[in-house]
Amino acid sequence: MNLVSSPGKPLRGSLSLPGDKSLSHRAALFSALAQGESVIDNFLVAGVTQAMLDALTSLGVSWELHGKRLVVQGKGLAGLRPPQRALDCGNSATTIRLLTGALAAAGVPAVLDGSPGLRRRPMDRIVSPLQSMGVPILASEGGSPPLQLETRTASQPLRALDYTLPVASAQVKTCLLLAALAADGPCSLHEPEPSRDHSERMLASMGVKIRADGATVTLIPSCPVLLNPLHLVLPGDISSAAFIIVAAVITPGSQVILRDVLLNPTRTGLLDALQSMGADISIQRGADRGGETVGDVTVSASTLHGTEVDGALAVRMIDEFPAFAVATAFAHGRTEVRGAAELRHKESDRIGALAHNLLLLGAQVEEAADGFTILGQGVLQGGKGDPFRDHRLAMALAVAGLASKEAVTVQGAEIIAESYPEFADALRSLGAEVRLEP
Ligand code: S3P
Repeated sequence: MNLVSSPGKPLRGSLSLPGDKSLSHRAALFSALAQGESVIDNFLVAGVTQAMLDALTSLGVSWELHGKRLVVQGKGLAGLRPPQRALDCGNSATTIRLLTGALAAAGVPAVLDGSPGLRRRPMDRIVSPLQSMGVPILASEGGSPPLQLETRTASQPLRALDYTLPVASAQVKTCLLLAALAADGPCSLHEPEPSRDHSERMLASMGVKIRADGATVTLIPSCPVLLNPLHLVLPGDISSAAFIIVAAVITPGSQVILRDVLLNPTRTGLLDALQSMGADISIQRGADRGGETVGDVTVSASTLHGTEVDGALAVRMIDEFPAFAVATAFAHGRTEVRGAAELRHKESDRIGALAHNLLLLGAQVEEAADGFTILGQGVLQGGKGDPFRDHRLAMALAVAGLASKEAVTVQGAEIIAESYPEFADALRSLGAEVRLEP
């Protein structure tokens, strides 16, 4: 399916976003590990979270979806059952990495696999620290899925871990924190820069002893592992909001209010980067909800200049580079992104894929090993883009079409349903011209 986005219409109005993807994954899995019934409202119903829910079914966990309300019957870590066949994690690296940590703690044997795209994602980053905790796990050649977990007697604890992650990664951190629930002593994880800390916040709210100090987190396991169920209304996904925010910033005459967005400071790097480029963005913080900061974001069309992104800021906007790159192409002047080599290991090689597509649309882009440089000229030509089966690439290209000289046709746009099924409808509700064609 193609998505065609056309220029000339300002975006105006207000919008609520689907529930945050990272929080939805964690809420579903952690509820399954809790004792009793959890109720999660504004759960993200999309391809990636379906992969997590299907895997939970295969592990004997009962859940029901009523619209966007997820109800999970948690039976504790000991309630997980060995699956009959390989767990299909689809395209979702969060699903495979988080589930592996939980299964390692539970001692449940399983094979975890996924789509051809997922089989290209690096898993050695979880396999090797898990092995040093005594988890009987093997990856396929090259350190990729399928992963094979052997049985381990639940009565035999894992070895406590003090580990420095080579790259900042909330998925790796969460995998190891979940395994640490079954360790024989406190486990400490150190990151080069702090990654998103939703697991720390959610596990603490469920009664786990966990403390964070800068880029170090320490979990003190208790035996038996008892987690309180969750009752949450999830805030809107800032990573989905990112596309609407950039669309409003680059499309002349736009003004959009995004309601109830997750504003956890480990996730708001894009807002800081855009503001440093001159974007007119204002934030109204609301009351904290479920341990997370939530608020409304108002965005108006703005004239942008170039900027630099590196280090801690790059980690705080790691999923936002596709949207951000489009904004920089519409800016005036040079933007340099460095310290973002992780982008090569996302749903696509996002450095290569962004450079390829933005060049096709008329941008001046240069790739670097760990980032890219874009010489913004205030506008793009438009044309045709191939998102390489990457949902965020597809949405970023669609956004570019709203402000280019000519329309942008995004091929393979059905991939957007992995994280934001209502994306095209949301843009249309704000007045944008977007159409789907077979
Ligand atoms: C996520 C962490 C990030 C992010 C992904 C979701 C999470 O991945 O890119 O979309 O929910 O923990 P890494 O941990 O690999 O950086």
